Amino acid sequence: MKDIIDEVINECREFANDHRVGYNEGGTKGVRNRVEDDAAQRLFGEVSMIKPKVILEVGTGWGYSALWMAKAAVEYGGRIITIDFGSEATMKANEFFIKAGVSNIVTALNGDARQLIPALKAYKFDMIILDAEKTMYKEFIELAEPMMSQGTVILSDNVIDRAADMKDFLDYVRTDGKYKSTLIETEDGLERTVRL
Ligand SMILES: C[S@@+](CC[C@H](N)C(=O)[O-])C[C@H]1O[C@@H](n2cnc3c(N)ncnc32)[C@H](O)[C@@H]1O
Repeated sequence: MKDIIDEVINECREFANDHRVGYNEGGTKGVRNRVEDDAAQRLFGEVSMIKPKVILEVGTGWGYSALWMAKAAVEYGGRIITIDFGSEATMKANEFFIKAGVSNIVTALNGDARQLIPALKAYKFDMIILDAEKTMYKEFIELAEPMMSQGTVILSDNVIDRAADMKDFLDYVRTDGKYKSTLIETEDGLERTVRL
């Protein structure tokens, strides 16, 4: 099982390196195609260690980060719900999930996370990954708050290279008192935030 997931992870990495993914608010083609490998490995490590039952990912892209998490989650029966508003991204990511044999544990939803997160209110999220539009991180986390429990871990990418675009989010999780938040010094910066 792991061999085929590793093969598809490699295929997805190559694909993501060659293909732009997503659109920003203004409709311009996105420039970031996937998490860096150090962040991907960190996601794999966190999922393996914490064994979250339900993971919400905001920003599927081509499915690279979700494949890494799925590789850990298949070992203990975890489940991933991942959202992207790019229909091309959702379709291609689904192809990778099927090929890797993880489509039974990964659900890829197509739509704007600002509309879809509130529709997931029946869930409790044990882990949340933020890797979509950076200026919306604060909105995403606030929308997901009703679905968090004490101990929910939120991992947010690009907090170093895109810090200026998410200042409101970083101020919120670092100073509000609802969270304990620390920077993991990956290439782009991964914020590890725990709901208190
Ligand atoms: C950097 S890519 C995600 C990469 C992916 N996490 C990976 O490592 O393979 C960011 C994605 O977020 C999506 N996105 C941005 N804002 C969004 C929103 N409000 N709702 C849903 N998707 C969004 C874009 O379409 C894009 O595909």
